[in-house]
Amino acid sequence: MCGIIGYVGDREIVPILVEGLRKLEYRGYDSAGICVLDSGVLKAVKKEGKISELEKEESLRWISGKAGIAHTRWATHGKPDEINAHPHFDCENKIAIVHNGIIENYQALKKILIKEGHTIKSETDSEIIAHLIEKFYEGDLEEAVTKALELIEGAYGLAVLSSKEEKIIAAKKGSPLVIGIGDDEMFVASDVSPILGYTNKIIYLSDGEIAIIAKDRYLIKNLDGKKIDKEVHEIEGSIKEIEKGNFKHFMIKEIFEQPDVIESTIRGRIKGNRIKLNLDIDPKKIKRIILIACGTSWHSALIGKYIIEKYAGIPCEVDYASEFRYRNPLINEDDLVIAISQSGETADTIAALKEAKGKGAKALGIVNVVGSTISREVDSGIYLHAGPETGVASTKAFTSQVIALLMFSLFIRQEKGEEVDKVIFEEMGKLPGKIRKVLESSKKIREIAIMFKDKNNFLYFGRGINFPVALEGALKLKEISYIHAEGYPAAEMKHGPIALIDKNMPVVFLATKSPLSSKTLSNMEEVYARGGKIISIANEPTPEIQKFSEEMITVPETIEELSPIINVISLQLLAYHIADLKGLDVDKPRNLAKSVTVE
Ligand code: M6R
Repeated sequence: MCGIIGYVGDREIVPILVEGLRKLEYRGYDSAGICVLDSGVLKAVKKEGKISELEKEESLRWISGKAGIAHTRWATHGKPDEINAHPHFDCENKIAIVHNGIIENYQALKKILIKEGHTIKSETDSEIIAHLIEKFYEGDLEEAVTKALELIEGAYGLAVLSSKEEKIIAAKKGSPLVIGIGDDEMFVASDVSPILGYTNKIIYLSDGEIAIIAKDRYLIKNLDGKKIDKEVHEIEGSIKEIEKGNFKHFMIKEIFEQPDVIESTIRGRIKGNRIKLNLDIDPKKIKRIILIACGTSWHSALIGKYIIEKYAGIPCEVDYASEFRYRNPLINEDDLVIAISQSGETADTIAALKEAKGKGAKALGIVNVVGSTISREVDSGIYLHAGPETGVASTKAFTSQVIALLMFSLFIRQEKGEEVDKVIFEEMGKLPGKIRKVLESSKKIREIAIMFKDKNNFLYFGRGINFPVALEGALKLKEISYIHAEGYPAAEMKHGPIALIDKNMPVVFLATKSPLSSKTLSNMEEVYARGGKIISIANEPTPEIQKFSEEMITVPETIEELSPIINVISLQLLAYHIADLKGLDVDKPRNLAKSVTVE
């Protein structure tokens, strides 16, 4: 996720662009830049860091003009610095672009462009677009953009400015873009928040559409050049509401983003039945994998252990980063340590990573925030591409970590020359649709939340790969609702927790199909016999599950390795609805911080 704003009109342009970026900062904030067409010259200012850093630039005061574009970045390709910040330019500084999304075939296009004499300055995929437009430009910007887009594979929200034409060309595929229609002025942006102070007349571009916007007119076409009549929406509402979309909290917004996030984590990394990851490792030399993480990321690591041992065939250990760093672990040079972290800034995980590296281990990162400390400390890694996670309770980072760990395991298997079952790829493709199905249960889960919100304790039971899901469900509930909750492997119940079960104890069972289903059913029966109130997560209402369950949440069936992703979403929703019904501050629970940068 990044933010785009563009303006064509007579107002003072720099404040509009900078203020617009501020409103889009929630979409990404590691670097920013603006470009204005000033007396026939494209003048740009770019800065690493937050928008406030850009605002301090003295040179901004000397820029004026009637058309400009700006961007706040959440890095995906290349570190967050001034060179990689948008806008990007062609060789002659005659074409400027700002881009959201990922160009999947940029390496191939880059090679061709370099051969043709283009000089590429940044590490980004986005810069390629400016050079492609340059290649095709013969006096008509719209035509050149259209030809460039024909060559691009991937996702884009794009705004293009040329030194020769006082207009902006915008295009959309897979990344949101809206047009704002004012009186003798036009806007383009990645959402309505920077536009609404000026006009409430909005057009939502659809995939495959190009908009040509000048001060007093706009035109929308498809890629074949056919004009399209678009509905103009009149918007009402505050900016804060808009950042959250129609959602009450960031947490629920982020839960609902998960179908798109999973697509984004996978995008460009699977071609046919092959995994493409740029990892600086030789799989044949790895004798042991150690996963280090904290909190929710530690839960995804526990799932990772199952998947890595199954597909990569390498022994795998999981450690709390806070324990690993102080227990003087035995590390060899053929160990691979993987640090898993949403923020990339968790102090314990950073310290554990340094400890492992200091003892000679090879280090990888599975991280969301590009350019974060962990991403800089590791030899290579996998970015989650989940977009900024604002709610303190981690949701979309967890599911994208699990899919990243699966891709990592399959990659190792493939590089070792072993076959990967194509069913896994098929199921990964179906995952966003199946997650949407779970999200459709949100209303029903709220009804369940109404019934159980006043309980003081909850138990969560799961087996095998869904045991860590039980831990994660319990963590979600306790951190945002302040209800005491514990997760257990279901078979451990008889070694102690069973003593807690009576008619006042809600017990959440992960009972989706697995090789251990019959054993899970026996555990359910034991709880049922003691009066415990079972909420089951299951694929279908079999007579036994129905008999034992007070309430049931049905979720689509998938392969076992992907079931944690499907199952956890209903637990995220349960925790969210309980906390919301209790009137708590869901996004900022007491005593917690989003990023735990202290020991
Ligand atoms: O940024 P990280 O993934 O390293 O953060 C680790 C934990 O602090 C984090 O997952 C925490 O447990 C969340 N609040 C859980 O929702």
